[in-house]
Order: sequence, then structure tokens, then C-alpha cells
Amino acid sequence: MDKLDNLVARGPVVPVVVLDRVEDAVPLGRALLAGGVSTMEITLRTDAALGSIEAVAKDLPEMFVGAGTVVTTEDCQRVKDAGSEFMVSPGFHENLHKGALDTGLALLPGVATATDVVQALQFGYTRLKFFPAEASGGIAALKALTGPFPQLKICPTGGIGLSNAPDYLALDAVMCVGGSWLVPKAKIAAGEWDAITEIAAAAQALSR
Ligand code: 3PG
Repeated sequence: MDKLDNLVARGPVVPVVVLDRVEDAVPLGRALLAGGVSTMEITLRTDAALGSIEAVAKDLPEMFVGAGTVVTTEDCQRVKDAGSEFMVSPGFHENLHKGALDTGLALLPGVATATDVVQALQFGYTRLKFFPAEASGGIAALKALTGPFPQLKICPTGGIGLSNAPDYLALDAVMCVGGSWLVPKAKIAAGEWDAITEIAAAAQALSR
């Protein structure tokens, strides 16, 4: 099984995590695991990101931890060194492909247009993140975008929550959905781990 198959096999949702404090990473991971969610995409948007990936990789072996907002070949190496098992990017560039090859990490590149898709296909990527999903036109745009490319499997992300996730998951082209709604910043800051477990359980119960 390749690493992106593993990501998808774990459930219909991928939490997009933004952490300001490394010490929140493991309790957050435990809260998600308690709700049945065993993946975390920890975004490289804060200084705490790499330390958080490292802490989860070390303390929670049952969690499939990856890095989000990966943009450069250097990012690929840094997240690999921290213990990431996969990488997600909001976009795509040949240098990211190079970073994926150099590190051996699976890459989920981001696309929003047909040109983006054609570009990603040149490098063999058929599993893609549709980002920003809602702002790019939502379900209608995704249907139109995937029409010419039946080989694609998509993880829409951006503006998705519990209420609209089922509409995306009902599409054949959709393999999972991503979002930060699973891991609200305010609940992390307040250490409301039980509330996050409840959100995770509701998300994990969504069917595809
Ligand atoms: C991402 O990086 O994938 C997005 O920031 C997640 O979008 P959301 O916050 O609207 O879920």
C-alpha cells in the first residue's frame, strides 16, 4: 500500500492542523485518536510546526502524521527529518516533485484549475488536493474540473465543514476531504480535548 492509500484508508477526513505551541501537539493527537481520526496534516505555518510533527511522530506511533503547506524542496527535507510520513501542498511545482523523490515521501499536490491538473499529471500525480475548494467554486467547479480527467482522486480542502463534507464525499472523484474545522484554534488554545474528540468522531462517521 502506498502512503497516500494509507491516508485514505484511515477515514474520510484529514484534519488540517495549525499549532502555535509544540506542547499541544500530542494531546491534540490523542484527542483525535480517541474520536477515531488517525491522521494529522500539521501545516508549516507556525514556528511550532516541525517540533509538533516530531513530537507526534515520536509519542503517537498509531498516528499517521504528515506536513501541510509544504512549498519548497527544503521544506520536504525538513519535514522528513521531523518524522513526517506524507506531505500536502496548496499548489505544485517541479521542485516539490524533486523534494518528494529525494525524501521518498508521498506528496499530495494542490490544484485549482485544469492547467494545474495537466501540470501535475506531467509528473504522474493523479491524487490531488482541490484547494481552495469552496472559494474556487465548490462542488460545481470540482465536477466540471474532474469531468475530463476520470483518473483523478481528489481531496477537496478549504471552506469544508461537517455540513458540506457529505456533498463532496458523495462524488466518485473524491477520496477524502480536508479541513481545519476538526481542530478549532480556540479549542486547542483552551485545551478542550473532549470537544475535539467529539468533532473527530462526528467527522469520522461520515460515509464516502
Ligand atoms: C488548508 O490549508 O488546506 C486550508 O487552510 C484548510 O482550509 P479550511 O481552514 O477552510 O478548512
